[in-house]
Amino acid sequence: MGAASHVPKPWPGATLPTTSHTDDPFTGHMAEAWITSRQNISPKRLEAPGPDVSQLQQIFRSAASAPDHGLVKPWRFVIVLQDKRALLAEVFALALVDRDPGATLEQIETAREKAHRAPVLMLVVAQLGTCEPPIPSLERMVSVGAAVQNMLLMAHGQGFGSSLTSGQAMQSTRMRQLFGLATGEEAVCFLNIGTVSRRKTQRRHPEVHSFVSTL
Ligand SMILES: Cc1cc2nc3c(=O)[nH]c(=O)nc-3n(C[C@H](O)[C@H](O)[C@H](O)COP(=O)(O)O)c2cc1C
Repeated sequence: MGAASHVPKPWPGATLPTTSHTDDPFTGHMAEAWITSRQNISPKRLEAPGPDVSQLQQIFRSAASAPDHGLVKPWRFVIVLQDKRALLAEVFALALVDRDPGATLEQIETAREKAHRAPVLMLVVAQLGTCEPPIPSLERMVSVGAAVQNMLLMAHGQGFGSSLTSGQAMQSTRMRQLFGLATGEEAVCFLNIGTVSRRKTQRRHPEVHSFVSTL
């Protein structure tokens, strides 16, 4: 007999309870409120003050508690201090001109200006080269994402806004050189943190039934 073909079915099904069995719904509600109220706040709307050193330590400790198969720590973070922002601005500008030699002065200035926005700006680096034990890079990316999400949620819990930014400059040789990326390392995105100057309306999150089913 050939293998049965199973088609995923919508969840929750009729036989599954739809209410929580826990006697302590408070913790669940608090966690839900905190997680679902996090928003991506554009760096343009992130002002000083940003987190201080001890708050940043707390943010990085939250990254260190991310799930990590094989304990290979497939992430690292590089903070771009204020006095080094001009170097990043130059990379943004030159990477744009590399891609589009016809870029206008205004476009180049906008690219440059992106390096100067949030009070705290750091590069998220994924380490996807050979590692021991040999954890698949897909699993390591999950770990990196979990570390980043922990950091976003920690910053949110501290009362700060945060965002992730990326773009075509991420993969440029200039970016790799500036941050000294080794073979197997990838610049994933920037993580920005600061005080929210203006909040946007909460986006509508996808409905659970649109992405959960049962086999
Ligand atoms: C790896 C990564 C890179 C991202 N880069 C950008 C970006 O360059 N610009 C941007 O506006 N948002 C960026 N985002 C944020 C998403 O746009 C944002 O999370 C999404 O719109 C959902 O909004 P929310 O985080 O407020 O729920 C990025 C998110 C991820 C995971």
